[in-house]
Amino acid sequence: MHKMTQENLRNAFAGESQAHMKYMIFSDVAQKEGKPNIARMFTAIAYAERVHANNHLKVLSGVGDTAGNLETALGGETFEIDEMYPVYNNDAKIQGEKEAEKSTYYALEAEKIHAAMYTAAKGTAAQGKDIQLGDVQICSVCGYTAEGDAPDTCPVCGAKKQAFRKF
Ligand SMILES: [Fe+2]
Ligand SMILES: [Fe+2]
Repeated sequence: MHKMTQENLRNAFAGESQAHMKYMIFSDVAQKEGKPNIARMFTAIAYAERVHANNHLKVLSGVGDTAGNLETALGGETFEIDEMYPVYNNDAKIQGEKEAEKSTYYALEAEKIHAAMYTAAKGTAAQGKDIQLGDVQICSVCGYTAEGDAPDTCPVCGAKKQAFRKF
């Protein structure tokens, strides 16, 4: 692929991905404000942006089989754990940005667990098999991730059990 086309598609993928995420978050806000049709409009258009992101990523050859995708996912999480979030967290600390310090800390702590989960899964997936997996519990405040029952309090942010969403 021509370099410029590749760069354009990468930018388009990043933009569509961000639009998808923003619209999902905006949908939650509309829902909480008691505006279900605006919430649904945001959710629907978020899905369209996801379709666009999916198409761009496929053209960029960024989607593999599950074993390959786990390697890709692990690579992203590892970068975030080893380089990105420690540096961002430190920058926020130095600049006295308390909220940014907290949000980057929350992400860093969860990414460590995500990396461990992907690492545990990839060997099994490489053999062409699915994994054993209990309920996955996500803290809606900080993203802390646990398998099995939700803890009584989140070990990262201190949120109560009811803040966990089960997958
Ligand atoms: Fe993650
Ligand atoms: Fe939490």
